[in-house]
Amino acid sequence: MVTVRSFAKINLGLRIGQSRADGFHELRTVYQTIALHDVITVKISRGSGIEIRCADPRVPKDDTNTCYKTAERVMDRLAAKGRVIIEIQKKLPVQGGLGGASSNAVAVLLALEWKLKKTLTGPERLRMAAEVGSDLPLFLVGGTSLGVGRGEEVYPLPDLPTAACVMVAPQIGVSTPQAFRDWDGMADRKGKLTPSGMSDRMNEFGRIVSSWLTGPSSQSGKPASGVPAKGRGRAETPLLDLVHTGIENDFEKVVFPKYPELCEIKQALLRAGAFYASLSGSGSVLYGLFHRRQQAEKCAKQLKGQGFSATATTTLTRPQYWKKFLVSGF
Ligand code: C5P
Repeated sequence: MVTVRSFAKINLGLRIGQSRADGFHELRTVYQTIALHDVITVKISRGSGIEIRCADPRVPKDDTNTCYKTAERVMDRLAAKGRVIIEIQKKLPVQGGLGGASSNAVAVLLALEWKLKKTLTGPERLRMAAEVGSDLPLFLVGGTSLGVGRGEEVYPLPDLPTAACVMVAPQIGVSTPQAFRDWDGMADRKGKLTPSGMSDRMNEFGRIVSSWLTGPSSQSGKPASGVPAKGRGRAETPLLDLVHTGIENDFEKVVFPKYPELCEIKQALLRAGAFYASLSGSGSVLYGLFHRRQQAEKCAKQLKGQGFSATATTTLTRPQYWKKFLVSGF
């Protein structure tokens, strides 16, 4: 039996580009793993087939589950025999924009390799993950990473220092394909986003990230002014620099008009002292980033008091992500 933690991600800015011939959209984003997680246990018993066990009725137990698709591919590729039993302890919101299902699938991929004592090559793993879904490969990298292509092409970035955050999970499930369709509908109605306008927006995101990466604080650990802002440690300035570039999540433009309560939650996070707040992916989860853990805890308590499902947590750097990944069974 192998048990692993399947962590969630947030998007620090997300830009949607043109819809492509394969039906996907060009995308640019910065992914950041966070400490909230599901727990996945993988066993191999006598027999054949794949069995998914999960108490949450919203999680599919058949071959539409990303864990199923991944296990099928890994068993086939590694020419392994046996019945794969996958147990999912679901704590992350379903359809929340935190990449829960994708992270679960990557957890299964790595747990199976460990269980079988056989390994795929790095490129094979990334290819298999990308085949199952655009959000899987980021979980093979962890920490702070850049997502391009349809989001499946990931590049590790220098890790942002650990930051306190508050996650709010509203009782709304947002369908990602529908959110992309709504984006296309809005772009058509506005008539502004011509193909060249679109590619300009995408290139601009790349320029923002690269100027942030090469900016003074990334090189020296100091903010652009050379003086850490009052009351803040030097360590967090790269994150502040990134959010000060004005990064935003395009999905907010189509999801907020449809669900105005989500925009209100973002405002509540900002009022509670978040230095940045945003929808994660296509939502419906919103997050706020805070200077101090205590501020985040106070905000979560306050929002809970107002009836929201709010949790204080932290972002996870790449070393933290991998250190905490395995629970037992290795
Ligand atoms: O890759 P994934 O399975 O997560 O994508 C689910 C759906 O979301 C796709 O079938 C597509 O409709 C939409 N999508 C998209 N562009 C992306 C990623 C996803 O249009 N970059």
